Amino acid sequence: MNEASLAVQVEGLAKRYGHPETGLLAVDHIDFEVRRGEVFGFLGPNGAGKTTTIRMLTGLAQPTAGSARILGLDRARELSRIKKRIGLVPEASNLYDELTAFDNLIFSMRLYGVPHRQQAARAEELLARFRLSEKRDTRFGRLSRGMRRALTIAAALAHKPDLLFLDEPTTGLDVVSARNLRQMIATLRDEGMTVFLTTHYLEEAERLCDRIAMMVRGRIVALDTVAELRSQTNGFTGIELAVEGHNGGSVPEIRRLSGDSVESLIVQGMAAAQAEGRRVVALNTVQPSLEDVFVELTGLDLDAMRIEKNGKGK
Ligand SMILES: Nc1ncnc2c1ncn2[C@@H]1O[C@H](COP(=O)(O)OP(=O)(O)O)[C@@H](O)[C@H]1O
Ligand SMILES: [Mg+2]
Repeated sequence: MNEASLAVQVEGLAKRYGHPETGLLAVDHIDFEVRRGEVFGFLGPNGAGKTTTIRMLTGLAQPTAGSARILGLDRARELSRIKKRIGLVPEASNLYDELTAFDNLIFSMRLYGVPHRQQAARAEELLARFRLSEKRDTRFGRLSRGMRRALTIAAALAHKPDLLFLDEPTTGLDVVSARNLRQMIATLRDEGMTVFLTTHYLEEAERLCDRIAMMVRGRIVALDTVAELRSQTNGFTGIELAVEGHNGGSVPEIRRLSGDSVESLIVQGMAAAQAEGRRVVALNTVQPSLEDVFVELTGLDLDAMRIEKNGKGK
């Protein structure tokens, strides 16, 4: 992969908080690359080091060790140039409660040096695209959570960055808002934006990301496409049989079997159905889920992923 096709290149990146030797190693010398145009996800439980990584890449925290290139620029030497070309949506919004939706966008554009004569039109365009035109003159603090998150993303796009960092974009949102937001992120990707996001939701990573890095205790334990991650597990796979309901009833019963080989499962399943005098009306193979992969690779209980932080995610 040559440099021009990489949005982020990280080598040996580490962050230790507190004492230089005994303090907590929140990010433990990680290496990874984000390709241009992809949605890349950091997936891991709370405390894994996801936010710390984003903060280092966006210049909000100083690494203890290692290096990073963002859009071909060196993080240590060219941070101000990098900042003009990236957008950041932190977990807690950085917008102002007392300013209207429109004024928050204008304010962001001033910060990023968007020419004055372009600001108003661009703000209206962003409001429209995030379905917030009706809330143009509503103060930020009075918007719903989902709207606040959407506006925070809009503000991060104010200067048309090439790379967008999203820290836990859907945490704390209701199901519908979260789905809308994922749709917006997918649209951004379709338009060519590179997106780096963090999440502790497996399903979100699975649905949204082209590639996923699984992070646990400061380390990347796996990094690949969803399809490849799934194929790496030994934990197979099952089959799902739909058999005709009792007495030929029209609602089929679904049965799941798992084991080591698809062939033997099919034979078993068919034999069982036949012994009961029932017809098999459908047969599917079932892939291991990303959850299975995560549990196998990290040794973590899935409950570790479901612990939500309180009071976060404005
Ligand atoms: N400013 C800080 N000072 C000390 N420890 C911190 C600080 N920020 C985060 N940590 C610790 O570093 C670890 C990683 O945190 P964080 O990067 O926020 O993880 P994540 O975003 O994956 O939940 C956690 O143990 C957290 O308590
Ligand atoms: Mg975090």
